[in-house]
Amino acid sequence: MKRLLLFCCMLFAAGASLTTAQAEDLSDWKLPPVPVPADNPPSKAKIALGHQLAFDTRLSKNNSMSCAGCHRPTTGGGGHTARAFGHGGELGRWAPSWDNAAYSTSMFWDGRAASLEEQTGALPGHMGPISAPGEMAGDVKAVVQRLKAIPAYNKAFSKAFKDGVTRQNIAKAIAAYERTLIARHSPFQRYVHGDSKALSPAAKRGFELFRNKALCIECHTAPLLTDNAFHNIGVPQVGPLKEDKGRYVVTKDKDDIGAFKTPSLYNSASFAFFMHDGAFSTMQQVIAHYNRGGDPNNAHQDGLIEPLHLNAKEQSDLIAFMQSLTDPNLNHIHRPALP
Ligand code: HEC
Ligand code: HEC
Repeated sequence: MKRLLLFCCMLFAAGASLTTAQAEDLSDWKLPPVPVPADNPPSKAKIALGHQLAFDTRLSKNNSMSCAGCHRPTTGGGGHTARAFGHGGELGRWAPSWDNAAYSTSMFWDGRAASLEEQTGALPGHMGPISAPGEMAGDVKAVVQRLKAIPAYNKAFSKAFKDGVTRQNIAKAIAAYERTLIARHSPFQRYVHGDSKALSPAAKRGFELFRNKALCIECHTAPLLTDNAFHNIGVPQVGPLKEDKGRYVVTKDKDDIGAFKTPSLYNSASFAFFMHDGAFSTMQQVIAHYNRGGDPNNAHQDGLIEPLHLNAKEQSDLIAFMQSLTDPNLNHIHRPALP
């Protein structure tokens, strides 16, 4: 009888702690509506057109390369090689995911572009993948002519815009499409919206570690999992560049040497590579890097990076949490039929 009573008490205690967990207000973690520039409101026609353009190799010099060729759905919207290969050969940086990039207040690892529209490189005066010689190497005027010569594209542009095929509208359609690549259906988002079963116990423990002992939250802040700022976290320099000074090249501020934009971690468990130069290829390596305190010999490393003393179970719990950030829909985006 005594034992039964004890058992009941334990059940009650477990129940009580469960309700406290459920009662925790997680609304800070809900992904907000995507910011949209006033001059580029979305429409179904525009998004469908952007989806096609993002998968169309005719936006590149020799019809050889599309946005999605480097930002692969199957690898979480990021590159499938450690550094991207463009028209000019191997670039110095890994292609980061374009999933959730719509929330970023600046684009690229060093933040040198201000918006998704600018980032495409289709706008006059802006260098980006479509125009960059090392990437798709496009002559944007020639790309416009090429698309104009395709009747179905003409029709699709007229449906989406008043003024048909222009460089601005190429940029706008692709950006409108990118604004749909949001990890709303990740288990973690379902969890913060009230589905307490969406996370495994391991992922819940990982979420606790993420917010406390593992210090991840210092930079991967709620709700976007990025502070939209730049930090040097002591990533080893690999690839064709001798040194990548990162944000420093934009600001010329010594504190920015080797600092890169904090990436949003959504869908990162599907990445084939990690970090600005693709230095790591598994999440285990990423966590091990943080656990050892990054690179203590790196004079410019952020003071927030320090040894974490996570044991093996804690590391695997943290990885379970990272996996809960994956929206499977984003990893299964198809190549649309092209005109
Ligand atoms: C040759 C491979 C390649 C192609 C093609 C390519 N990208 Fe990228 N993309 C990259 C690399 C590499 C970076 C990072 C470059 C840097 O930070 O300097 C990047 C960065 C980005 C970013 C910034 C993400 C962020 O969080 O800062 C976005 C968005 C993006 N690309 C979208 C596109 C779009 C849209 C296209 C097609 C118009 C495209 N990319 C074509 C390799 C590519
Ligand atoms: C001091 C700020 C800071 C802290 C603390 C921090 N990160 Fe990061 N994280 C960054 C920055 C900046 C990058 C990109 C660095 C680079 O490419 O050189 C990054 C990259 C990553 C990446 C690779 C994503 C990609 O797109 O390549 C993962 C995964 C990651 N962090 C997870 C974590 C986890 C898990 C923790 C806690 C253990 C953590 N981070 C703690 C700032 C931070």
